[in-house]
Amino acid sequence: MDDRLMPDESIVVLDFGGQYSHLITRRIRECEVYAELLPYTASADQIRKLNAKGVVLSGGPASVYDHDSPKCDSSIFRLGIPVLGICYGLQLMVSSLGGRVKSVKRSEYGKTKLNITDHADLFRDLPSSIVTWMSHGDHAESLPNGFESIGQSENHMTAAIRNSTSQLYAVQFHPEVAHTEKGGQIIRNFVRGICGCSSTWTSRSIISTAIEQVKSSVGRDKVLVAVSGGIDSTTAALLVQKALGDNLTCIFVNHGLLRKDDEHLVLKTLQDLKLNVHYVDASERFLHSLKGVGDPEEKRKRIGEEFIKVFGEESAKFGTFHWLVQGTLYPDVIESAGTGSVASKIKSHHNVGGIPEWSKFKIIEPLKLLYKDEVRKIARELGMPEVLVKTHPFPGPGLAVRIIGEVSEEKLRICREASAIVEQILRRHNLYDSVWQAFAVVGDDLTVGVLGDQRKFGHLVTVRIINSVDGMTADWARIPDDVLEEISSQITGEVKGVTWVTYAISSKPPSTIEPC
Ligand code: XMP
Repeated sequence: MDDRLMPDESIVVLDFGGQYSHLITRRIRECEVYAELLPYTASADQIRKLNAKGVVLSGGPASVYDHDSPKCDSSIFRLGIPVLGICYGLQLMVSSLGGRVKSVKRSEYGKTKLNITDHADLFRDLPSSIVTWMSHGDHAESLPNGFESIGQSENHMTAAIRNSTSQLYAVQFHPEVAHTEKGGQIIRNFVRGICGCSSTWTSRSIISTAIEQVKSSVGRDKVLVAVSGGIDSTTAALLVQKALGDNLTCIFVNHGLLRKDDEHLVLKTLQDLKLNVHYVDASERFLHSLKGVGDPEEKRKRIGEEFIKVFGEESAKFGTFHWLVQGTLYPDVIESAGTGSVASKIKSHHNVGGIPEWSKFKIIEPLKLLYKDEVRKIARELGMPEVLVKTHPFPGPGLAVRIIGEVSEEKLRICREASAIVEQILRRHNLYDSVWQAFAVVGDDLTVGVLGDQRKFGHLVTVRIINSVDGMTADWARIPDDVLEEISSQITGEVKGVTWVTYAISSKPPSTIEPC
């Protein structure tokens, strides 16, 4: 990570492959304390270099008594800073320090009551019992020397332990998930109370550090950014603009695959935000380059190549640039850096503006330590209108990934019109903000319909509405029947050439969010 962007103190989360490792990091940041996720193999030295005031050991799928189970550098327990083990982290702490872990006859899974017997530090200000989220098949049968139990599950199992002298704490449940009552308070008690961190990770401090850093790296050089109107590229541009003013040039390329009316809305918003924006309508070029291409990867490749050409030609009109801004976020950095994380979800890299190897640009990534929810907060702080802050993520290659087979003018029109109807109806029912993405898909399948008294062939449109936290996994949204019915009749009634509407009920995995 770029240490110039980091505050003076941090909490390190060691990732043992649990599905909630990123969530722990986010929850700590919600306490206005910077947290960094490192693979479990990180050394005590690495942790020291990050000015860590505490360490959290995440959960994970392994059993500590498996011969190849992940273990951390044991000197971490002697760093002299507090450590909190969560689930597998508890079992690892216990077995590494001389206690015994055993498999339980009946694993505890789901909501489980915790009876708290000590309120001095980790459970300060909590009631005497709370509902927690458990997910374990092993438990601590005997504790290492110096440890005591500070909470038991309703099944009389040790579920929270402490060694006050060494400042080691561990819980068998997951305080980071929403199902655990007062989980946020437990994490706050650890990072703010036990570790003594102060509030150094706020939108304001992030913004001012980023501005200072951009100023000192770039000086008076000219900087270029490709903006799409999406929250990441626009927020990155706004931050750099605050640092450099007119030395930032934004290029907004319309590749002809945008959502309905997006080119006007986006352009107006960027101008209202006083960004120095140059608009290029290159739709004909892009659509021409996609003629006859049905293969999804080939479509993405052509769009990417065309984008680089257009971007290069247009930027040349404004002189020579040495710097390029990119809206890369923290999860992308972690996953592409191959930090050795044992988490199994890997996102493929598919930014439409991905710069080619031969490019001489130096890169500025002002959002690279941030999660999406932090970017949203910063965007608001920088004056971005709420409608843009809440717009669903939209893929770089645009509607091309929602059109199965060749991108013909007719399919593009159907996809654009039908998607606009889906969004409009969800907004009308106040459902838009509660789902991750919502759109229509069209391919080459033709279905029979009845128009007036005539049987007619028309397109089949599939509506996809999904819930997700980060786009890496997703579930189809359970939309009320009457809303689906409204969507279906408005699409068949208003979008010429559509005879059937279906609803996609596959989650990710095994499916992806976009159909191609
Ligand atoms: P998939 O389809 O991979 O989508 O499940 C996961 C998330 O990524 C978005 N997506 C893309 N974003 N360029 C992008 O900038 C792309 O080529 C691309 N493909 C998918 C998708 O909309 C979802 O939010």
